[in-house]
Amino acid sequence: MLAREPQEENVADQAKAELKFNDKSLELPVVVGTEGERGIDIGKLRAQTGMVSLDPAYMNTASTKSAITFLDGERGILRYRGIPIEELAEKSTFVEVAYLLIYGHLPSKQELSKFSEALTRHSMLHEDMKRFYDGYPGTAHPMAILSAMVLSLSSFYPQALDVKNHEEQEATIARLVSKMRTIAAFSYKKSIGQPFVYPRNNLSYCANFLNMMFSVPAEPYDLDEEIVKVLNLLLILHADHEQNCSTSTVRQVGSSQANLFASVAAGICALWGPLHGGANEEVLSMLEAIRADGGGPKKFVELAKTKDSGFRLMGFGHRVYKNYDPRAKIIKVAADKVMKKMKQPDPLLDIAKTLEEAALNDSYFVERKLYPNVDFYSGIIYRALGIPTNMFTVMFAIGRTPGWIAHWKEMTEDPTTKIFRPRQIYTGSALTHYVPLDQRA
Ligand code: ACO
Repeated sequence: MLAREPQEENVADQAKAELKFNDKSLELPVVVGTEGERGIDIGKLRAQTGMVSLDPAYMNTASTKSAITFLDGERGILRYRGIPIEELAEKSTFVEVAYLLIYGHLPSKQELSKFSEALTRHSMLHEDMKRFYDGYPGTAHPMAILSAMVLSLSSFYPQALDVKNHEEQEATIARLVSKMRTIAAFSYKKSIGQPFVYPRNNLSYCANFLNMMFSVPAEPYDLDEEIVKVLNLLLILHADHEQNCSTSTVRQVGSSQANLFASVAAGICALWGPLHGGANEEVLSMLEAIRADGGGPKKFVELAKTKDSGFRLMGFGHRVYKNYDPRAKIIKVAADKVMKKMKQPDPLLDIAKTLEEAALNDSYFVERKLYPNVDFYSGIIYRALGIPTNMFTVMFAIGRTPGWIAHWKEMTEDPTTKIFRPRQIYTGSALTHYVPLDQRA
């Protein structure tokens, strides 16, 4: 990484990149970000050379300029709107961080209370939506339900379809942030055969979610303030991560001017995969498997190094972090704290720590710069809070919602946004002709 003084965002660097091909040469502008990141702007490449760039999996491609989150994977830095994740984790709440991401600044007292009130007012689901839950089998994965329900919101709030109407979008944003937790809690209640618990207006965002998840009409439910705090922390840590797979999906879908509910429903699907948000569920299964095996984590470290085993250490490695994921550091400390509070500490935490140590001292992981990511310890905390394993990725989705919204909003409000439409290099058959069925070999 080039060391540079921070400077104004998007100021064109003095330097230009030069691309030569055969006898042609092309000067390409260099775009510089606030923290000195440089990108070669190839926007005119095809128009001027007839060629496109090829970058499978976007390993080298910045798909957009964005002012939301700064991430330096080499130095393990993560900041939302310029504020270090460590400060937000220690001092803020999820609702405040949601505001920060979506609206670009920390809210004043008045702004925060207006936003919180909007979240409170929009927390219930339309009664007809409750019936949707009856159509799902008891075995339905809650991520499938979550995505379908979020998409369904666009049929109950057709105002959301007018993506250029900023006033309507304000209500859509509040509805989405607020109803995510209600949808999630209802799908849990459905899966265990308990009655839905309605949101309560006198509770904070996280307390309300815990109450909808764990209270029953038959007896009072005591909310533990420390647990509420831990949940705030986990949601803050998951709230945004710049152009990750699900956020890029939200942007991709939103670039066609699809409404916010539809765009986020697509993001939820992208998040579900085990290489992305689904990893937190996989980490737990892996730790359970290590416990059941009884032979200790080393065997699994060896297995992860054997390519044809098809096994990877889940919760390890990251496309961008080539250093310890700062979120994982914070979660590890929180996991320790939560465990100290529990009457019976979870043996999976010890297994996770031994596994981490074994991997971090192994040359395979050291050479490839593979460190624990955000998913490595989060599942252990969710488990301690009583959240079932198949809800882990749903928890991630609740946390990531403000980030998805912030990116969708940034893109939709940018007058230069065009529909995302990548090119390809075609490698199929050259021109060939239709053969009638009776003449085919
Ligand atoms: N266990 C074992 N080997 C690994 C792991 C792992 N968890 N992760 C990467 N590697 C190896 C790869 O086999 C590859 O080795 P090679 O160079 O010898 O072929 C090298 O490290 C680079 O890995 P890639 O898969 O090329 O890296 P990429 O950036 O494409 O993938 C990913 C990143 C998907 C996160 C990967 O590290 C992984 O599969 N991790 C496990 C799943 C996981 O925890 N996902 C959550 C990510 S965080 C999030 O989305 C919230």
